[in-house]
Amino acid sequence: MAAERNILITGGAGFIGSHVVRLFVKKYPNYRIINLDKLTYAGNLANLTDIENEKNYKFIKGDIVDSEFISKLFIDESIDAVIHLAAESHVDRSISNPIEFVMTNVVGTANLLNAARHQWKTPSEKNMFYHVSTDEVYGTLGETGFFTEETSYDPHSPYSASKAGSDHLVRAYHDTFKLPVVISNCSNNYGSFQFPEKLIPLSIHNIKNNKPIPIYGKGENIRDWLFVEDHATAIDVIFHKAKTGVTYNIGGHNEWKNIDLIHLLCSIMDRKLNRESGSCAKLITYVKDRAGHDMRYAIDSSKLQRELGWKPSLQFEEGLEKTVDWYLANDTWLNNVTSGEYLHFYDQQYVRR
Ligand code: NAD
Ligand code: DAU
Repeated sequence: MAAERNILITGGAGFIGSHVVRLFVKKYPNYRIINLDKLTYAGNLANLTDIENEKNYKFIKGDIVDSEFISKLFIDESIDAVIHLAAESHVDRSISNPIEFVMTNVVGTANLLNAARHQWKTPSEKNMFYHVSTDEVYGTLGETGFFTEETSYDPHSPYSASKAGSDHLVRAYHDTFKLPVVISNCSNNYGSFQFPEKLIPLSIHNIKNNKPIPIYGKGENIRDWLFVEDHATAIDVIFHKAKTGVTYNIGGHNEWKNIDLIHLLCSIMDRKLNRESGSCAKLITYVKDRAGHDMRYAIDSSKLQRELGWKPSLQFEEGLEKTVDWYLANDTWLNNVTSGEYLHFYDQQYVRR
């Protein structure tokens, strides 16, 4: 039986992408899911072992920056829709290597848009280009207020500027070529399979190994945390229900000062590792601040909740505990991704500066 829809998911071997691939492969047996990923340091097929043999799933290794390869892929696989997550995603790496972010996030997105435009000459209901973006495009907030879909773009890091550039291109292809598109801008995600360069898994890994927990600046920056599986369900709802050309913010109304979050994490880890209360917190170490460090992110996701009926499923304390349990139970995964390139990154980022 022919598939109802051939859906290209880019970056499906990464953190959020692997959760989106898993959800779509399991929930929609009549869709054919094609996971395209370059397998950079952040991409890992071990994130998908539970679904890799499913009949409606196919993995293709490739680079979105290679325009000829992308155009051919759209034709060969008869791509009907795209959920685009492939990106360079870590702010600190964008400070040390900005051009790679421009290539993947801007040029790579342009290549996908262009291939979709040529493939879907007269777009049908099957066609949709879903661009997964970030709240960082909106810049930073003071003590009050929230990012809404109408907030002006004001990115500060090469990462957020490259994501803002890709959002603008997506809207330009909609307005100029009538490409059916949808964009979502989400807040900080946490959960299983996140590469331990990001705050929560890095801290779990360091606590486990009795290494310092590096806190940038005074630890007063605020992030709005969402469980990754809730992001995946939001993407599912938006992909299926949103009107073309629309943007949705995704977030869980869950703001935490970095230092408060780390204290909560330390108390969970004390308990899980049977350590004396207060001992993990002794690892907290204040380090030089991130350049251009945004102070506060907070998402207003009421449009998504009101129009499409999505809401987050988990309280943060519960989600964080589940996340700690996952990392402690998945030693092999964590040890594999924290060898090789990771040691070089860690040394450059934290030891030698
Ligand atoms: P990630 O770094 O874990 O994964 C990115 C994936 O993209 C990896 O599998 C990598 O191999 C792949 N990739 C990178 N360059 C590629 C290229 N040139 N061609 C093909 N594949 C390539 O990232 P993530 O945290 O899962 O984020 C996924 C998307 O969601 C990104 O677009 C990011 O901007 C966005 N986002 C992330 C968060 C968050 O908190 N992590 C929040 C909001 C939005
Ligand atoms: O808001 C969405 C964004 O969230 C996504 O678009 C990005 O892809 C994702 O990486 C994330 O960006 P952040 O920079 O907010 O995440 P990170 O985990 O790197 O940092 C979270 C906060 O913790 C931030 O204020 C910096 C601080 N931090 C981070 C690290 C890695 C530390 O204090 N110490 C650290 O070692």
